[in-house]
Amino acid sequence: MTGNPEPAFSENGPATLYLAGPDMGGFILPQMLPAYRDDARFRVVSLAAEWEDIKRQVTQYRPEVLVIEASVAPGPDQLKDFLNQMVGTVAMVILPPAWAKFQGMFQGVQTTVRGVYLSPVNWAAVANATYSAVATERARTATASPAASLYRTEGLSRPNTTAVVGTRTIAFTSFAGGTGKSTIAEAMAVDLARQHIKTLLCSFNFPAAAVGHMGQNLHFSPNATEWLNRPTVDGFLASLQHPRGLDDLDVLLAPDDPHVLASANGRKAEEASSIRNLIFAAYSFNYGAILLDLPPFADSMWALHGLLAANVALLVCRPTLHDQFAAIHAYRLLSEQLAAQVRIPADAIFAVLNFTSSEDNINVRSFQGDIAKVVGRFPPILEAFPHIPSLPRLQSVGDTPVLAAGCEAFAQATRSLSAKLVPKAVSRNNLFVLM
Ligand SMILES: Nc1ncnc2c1ncn2[C@@H]1O[C@H](COP(=O)(O)OP(=O)(O)OP(=O)(O)O)[C@@H](O)[C@H]1O
Ligand SMILES: [Mg+2]
Repeated sequence: MTGNPEPAFSENGPATLYLAGPDMGGFILPQMLPAYRDDARFRVVSLAAEWEDIKRQVTQYRPEVLVIEASVAPGPDQLKDFLNQMVGTVAMVILPPAWAKFQGMFQGVQTTVRGVYLSPVNWAAVANATYSAVATERARTATASPAASLYRTEGLSRPNTTAVVGTRTIAFTSFAGGTGKSTIAEAMAVDLARQHIKTLLCSFNFPAAAVGHMGQNLHFSPNATEWLNRPTVDGFLASLQHPRGLDDLDVLLAPDDPHVLASANGRKAEEASSIRNLIFAAYSFNYGAILLDLPPFADSMWALHGLLAANVALLVCRPTLHDQFAAIHAYRLLSEQLAAQVRIPADAIFAVLNFTSSEDNINVRSFQGDIAKVVGRFPPILEAFPHIPSLPRLQSVGDTPVLAAGCEAFAQATRSLSAKLVPKAVSRNNLFVLM
């Protein structure tokens, strides 16, 4: 046990925990502690069964997570007040059966509470959720632009502007259609969720691509219509779908009704129920990453508002001359025409190549070099995704390229893109935290 405060959420190592409950010998030691006995994932900084100790030490030690059995507090209101004012620590709250009616109240403490469970709990599930909460929080609160160092090591001399701060909101965009925006955004969403980073995938094609790509348990509704009709916290939650087997992934689909789609398309960004504000509404839910799978850039506000809400842009291109022209337009739009309106720092614009193969006559280097000759510079190309002939067939039966046999090279590119764009997402060289 140490009295030194530790900076919260700055580590790559095990999640730091503070365990608290009403009874050391009857509860904390026999029930809580064994659930967290996993040195690769958790480090128990301290534990206590006295309310005064808990209040003082959590503030002083700044563990990443407080796991607390609620009845150690003098009452629900005192616990709620304490959770509300915690800084740098999130909480998993376990309620005794007698406190069942307070479940909603504790869930409402959205700044710090990441899970509320009613006793008797499944401790393995609580431990997994604790780990997810830390992975998500580390991704969410990291401040440096993770790919900036890569930019510098490539020797590209772009002025180093403001770094991205907070939740990565990544716009997958292109002027050309069919470049693989949906496929790569969906793969990255699955990859991040498998690393327990709470992720929101916004699937904004019409019809929404995720339904046709990600399996039978996604349907065209519910979708963003719920929030567009009712732009509240409840409306947002009612808009979401939850793919089976991926606890840390939420999916928000574009409306399925062309009239609703068009009506949202006609709203200005500043209007309360605009598409941009739909994306901003997600900020109340502590996602580690928000992936915006946008339609190809034409006249649709579903593409433009996505760019207005994003803080990272990823231009998805094929290694073709046409896509080089399209990329020039996309880059100019972001870095010149829209520069005053978007929140994307100059060094948070990136590109990837998709559909690459050994038969290409354009490669990463020449793709970038040719464009740089025309516009002076072009963003770093973070990854080259291989052409996988079986990919459309796999998507049609709901199989993800992150896991399917024959897609290993695509899965690797996805993993390394996640690690470059979302801090704390593990790279393929650093897989120890995966279960
Ligand atoms: N690396 C790849 N190898 C093989 N097929 C791919 C690859 N990437 C995408 N595809 C296929 O190309 C088609 C278009 O992909 P996708 O829908 O992801 O593109 P998009 O850029 O989102 O399209 P849109 O502009 O219409 O939104 C899909 O059938 C998908 O299966
Ligand atoms: Mg698409």
